[in-house]
Formats: sequence, C-alpha cells, structure tokens
Amino acid sequence: MQWTTLLTLALAVPSSAVVRFHCSQLVTQRLDPLVSPGLLPSSHVHQIVGGDSFNATMDPKKDMPASSTCTSCQFTDDFSNYWTAVLYWRAQNGSYKRVPQLGNNQFEKANGGLTVYYMQDPIYDSGQKSKVTSFQPGFRMFIGDIAARTLAEAAKFRQLTYTCMDTWTTRAPEMTLFPNRTCKEGILTSLRFPTCWDGKNLDSPDHMSHMSYPETGTFESAGPCPSTHPVRTAQVMFEVVWDTKPFNSLPWPTDGSNSLVWSFGDATGAANHADYIFGWKGDALQKILDTPTYMNDTGFNLQSVDEMNRCVQKRVVDEDIDGWLPALPGGFQAQYAPAST
Ligand SMILES: *[C@@H]1O[C@H](CO)[C@@H](O)[C@H](O)[C@H]1NC(C)=O
Ligand SMILES: *[C@@H]1O[C@H](CO)[C@@H](O)[C@H](O)[C@H]1NC(C)=O
Ligand SMILES: *[C@@H]1O[C@H](CO)[C@@H](O)[C@H](O)[C@H]1NC(C)=O
Ligand SMILES: *[C@@H]1O[C@H](CO)[C@@H](O)[C@H](O)[C@H]1NC(C)=O
Repeated sequence: MQWTTLLTLALAVPSSAVVRFHCSQLVTQRLDPLVSPGLLPSSHVHQIVGGDSFNATMDPKKDMPASSTCTSCQFTDDFSNYWTAVLYWRAQNGSYKRVPQLGNNQFEKANGGLTVYYMQDPIYDSGQKSKVTSFQPGFRMFIGDIAARTLAEAAKFRQLTYTCMDTWTTRAPEMTLFPNRTCKEGILTSLRFPTCWDGKNLDSPDHMSHMSYPETGTFESAGPCPSTHPVRTAQVMFEVVWDTKPFNSLPWPTDGSNSLVWSFGDATGAANHADYIFGWKGDALQKILDTPTYMNDTGFNLQSVDEMNRCVQKRVVDEDIDGWLPALPGGFQAQYAPAST
C-alpha cells in the first residue's frame, strides 16, 4: 500500500506539504449534528474535538468561530469540529467497556482526541508543489458506511484503516477490518476523506456525494479529479489512538469473534467512519494551505497542549458511557459479519 510508505516518511522526514496538528477531546457523548441534526441523544457515542460551539444542531449558517469561546485544536483559528465513533471492549461475559484514547505520537500530553492532517501534495516529503482549495463556511462531509459489516462493503471506501501498534510508532500494515490479535501499544485508526469537490455544494443528502475520490488512482498517486468534481482540496485525515493496554491481559475470544466493537455495534471494523464540519476563521486555512509548511511549524497562531486540554464541553446527554455496561449506550449489541461472507 503506497500510502503507508508515504505516511511513514511524513513522520520521519521534514516535509513541507502537510499540516499536522492535534486536537484534544472536547466532549464524548451521543450527539451527531451532521447525520442527525437536532437529535438529542443521537444513536451512538462519538468522540468530538474542535470549537466549543459544537451542539446537537449545527445550522450550516452558524458562524462557528464567532459562536465558540475556545477550540481544543492546536491552531487557534480552527473552530471546526472533527469526530468519530468510539471503541468499546467486549469482555467474555458480554459486558462492554469504553476503550480510552491517548494523544498521538509527539502529542503525548494531549487529553485523547485526534490528530488532523491537511495534505496539499501526495509526495509530501519533497516540498509543496500543489495549490489546493480550502473548504468554505457551511461545508461538511462524512466518509464510511455504518451499515458495512464485510470486507467487500468496506472496500468501497479507500483508506479507512486500522494499525495494530506493537510499538508507539508502528504505522504499518494498515488493515480494513479490526486487528484480530492483542496490540501491545494500542490501535491507530487512520481516516482519509476524498479530495475532489463538486465546487458547488457545501453538503449533500448522504453527506458524501458532493465529494469524490480521484477518477483513477488515489490522492497519493496524484490521480486526477473527475469532471463532475473538478476542485482539488487538501486531503483531510484523522488519526486516533485507542489505548487497548488496560484490556491486554483479558482473554481474547476463541470462537473467531472479536473483542473490539464500535459504539454502534459493528464488531468487524468494516464500518469505520468519520465526520467533518469546516469552521476555520476567515481565510486562515487557505493561507496555511498556500504556505509551504512543515507539520505544525508555520508561524500561524498556535496554542499549547495545556491550553488545548482546557477547552472542554459538558455532556448534555446524561448517561453512563464508561462503566462495564450490559449494552452499548443506545442499546446496541455487538454484530459480527453475516455468516455467508
Ligand atoms: C445550538 O447552538 C445554537 C447557537 O449557536 C442555538 O441557537 C441552538 O439552540 C443550540 N441547539 C441546541 C440543541 O443546543
Ligand atoms: C465482565 O467481565 C469484566 C472483565 O473481566 C469484569 O470487569 C466485569 O465485572 C464483568 N461483568 C459482569 C456483569 O460480570
Ligand atoms: C488475522 O488477520 C490477519 C490480517 O488480516 C489475517 O491474515 C489472519 O488470517 C487472521 N487470523 C485469523 C485467525 O483470523
Ligand atoms: C509542533 O510539533 C512538534 C512535533 O512535531 C513539537 O515538538 C512542537 O512542540 C510543536 N510546536 C508547537 C508550537 O506546538
């Protein structure tokens, strides 16, 4: 997998065509203003980072920078919200416990959350070559399929992966389904969004069809955008570190099933998905994308990890999401792949 090699390079070699920064946990609860706006609680638990104007509604006309008092992201002009589902561990007795999160490599002091990348170029260790278009206020997107339970269904989405971390910096191989063994240092999920925009719609009914993958190849192989989606954007990627260490001494199932389960019941890993609501101040993101940058070192407004950690929101959905639970919050039980696959 070519992207694996490039990502490993990005972590090792000074590069100038990627912005990499961390966002600490803002809140973890059942809210989903993209797929179920206004629903309180929404179906399953999410972990959310970014501006603290996040709430159940998120009207596309909301001025996110003006409505926020802080952001849990390192760039202080970024009031976007980024979120994913959360992982639970299913014990042999059928009880579930939430898998804690960690700050990523080089962001060890962060309170969980996720690392965000905006990539301008596929070959990002050899200098910035491309101009990419920023997203705009009101823009939002989703990637993945929460109903997917098979490898074939997961394969419709490129680059939503799991890495079983034997060391803190293990970044390969990337797998499309959950690791089926104990991962000594935890699990890394990497979620990459499509990079071609239709240039018109800030959203679409499925929150995906206003975006497209390149017509051929991938972002990493510099594949061209299709004529229906001609505007090349930065590649947005999230990395999330799941701390499975507290469970590593518990027995792994012997019947071929898995101990890992997403908060909405997927116990295969095929339904890995991610949500993004753009909320950068003014043209701050476009300026960053236009500037040859090395990781976070751009001369733009940055805050410390301690400051990021201080931007938190109170849960509005009052329920236990962290104890040993007989069912996942929202009533889900682990669902495995259909027997026919
Ligand atoms: C969300 O925030 C907006 C203002 O930013 C407010 O008008 C709205 O009532 C809030 N919705 C919920 C469900 O909290
Ligand atoms: C189920 O197993 C876990 C892990 O061994 C344990 O901590 C928990 O108390 C058990 N729950 C019940 C209801 O027995
Ligand atoms: C575990 O996963 C690996 C990688 O996907 C696969 O090659 C292997 O066959 C799996 N092992 C079992 C016991 O399912
Ligand atoms: C930027 O990230 C590097 C690691 O890549 C870290 O050492 C440095 O402290 C960060 N700078 C700021 C201002 O956060």
